[in-house]
Amino acid sequence: MPRPPEQDPPETALEELLEAVERSSPPAPWEEGDNIPWNDPEFSRRMLREHLSQEHDAASRRSPTIDRHVAWVHDELLGRSPTRILDLGCGPGLYVSRFAALGHECVGVDYSPASIEHARGLARDGELRCTYILSDIREADLGSGYGLATLIYGEFNIFRPADAARILDRVKSSLDDGGILILEPHTYAAVREIGRSPVSWYSADAGVFSDEPHICVREHFWDADARAATRRFYVGDVASGRISRYAQTFQAYTRQEYRDLLVEHGFRAVKFHPSLTGGVDPDEPAVMVIVARA
Ligand SMILES: C[S@@+](CC[C@H](N)C(=O)[O-])C[C@H]1O[C@@H](n2cnc3c(N)ncnc32)[C@H](O)[C@@H]1O
Repeated sequence: MPRPPEQDPPETALEELLEAVERSSPPAPWEEGDNIPWNDPEFSRRMLREHLSQEHDAASRRSPTIDRHVAWVHDELLGRSPTRILDLGCGPGLYVSRFAALGHECVGVDYSPASIEHARGLARDGELRCTYILSDIREADLGSGYGLATLIYGEFNIFRPADAARILDRVKSSLDDGGILILEPHTYAAVREIGRSPVSWYSADAGVFSDEPHICVREHFWDADARAATRRFYVGDVASGRISRYAQTFQAYTRQEYRDLLVEHGFRAVKFHPSLTGGVDPDEPAVMVIVARA
């Protein structure tokens, strides 16, 4: 289909409202954006509160769950032997700092400035052997010589397939021979469920998208051909009427596709686990754990 001619971005609240009303549906996967703006300084400052909240598991899990995950990886996968660990999309360093406290030397990569600042503070205060890199994991210099690399809490599916493939290649090169990869992606069913969710909305005095009163409308789309779910956000500022738009797309993969992808990118001994505790976690049906060797 021919693409409509490029239009100037809307300049007034009314133009933004009209653009929202005349939006194209369904959007093509990734057409309207890669992800929510984790790397925007203000968004990341607001999101940090959610990462650290002990009221919910929305951006990062609560501390007792992270403790259990780190214990399983340290005891069962690493046999309690210190190694070098690379955590991609590390957020505020909640996993990394725990691994470092157990004697591992860690590198965390994330492009959220507030998260990385918080993580560096944890490392300083705890005198932990952690290095944090503020960068996009698709481009960062990841270094080499790792015994373990992790990409957890469902973020793998956010990447376009070509980027996901590139990340796997880069992680493979950064791991020692026999080093372990832990991926924690969404299940196929969970991605499809995102795409089939109804429209929803909320209003808030402040939240991750704004410090001011706003409403947020979320639309979801399942593209059965691309097997990708897109979530679109319209955030309307109550005082000005201005509307900001964001979108994120999740690629769905079956278990066999995850296995094939890992093998295609040089990994072996691919094993599936129901959760990062090794056993079934009824609170986390949307994600699964894949462990593979470089
Ligand atoms: C759901 S949070 C999980 C954070 C952390 N892994 C945890 O479980 O506490 C996803 C993280 O991935 C990061 N992220 C997403 N895309 C990224 C990219 N392209 N490069 C670097 N970080 C990214 C976000 O900034 C965010 O911190």
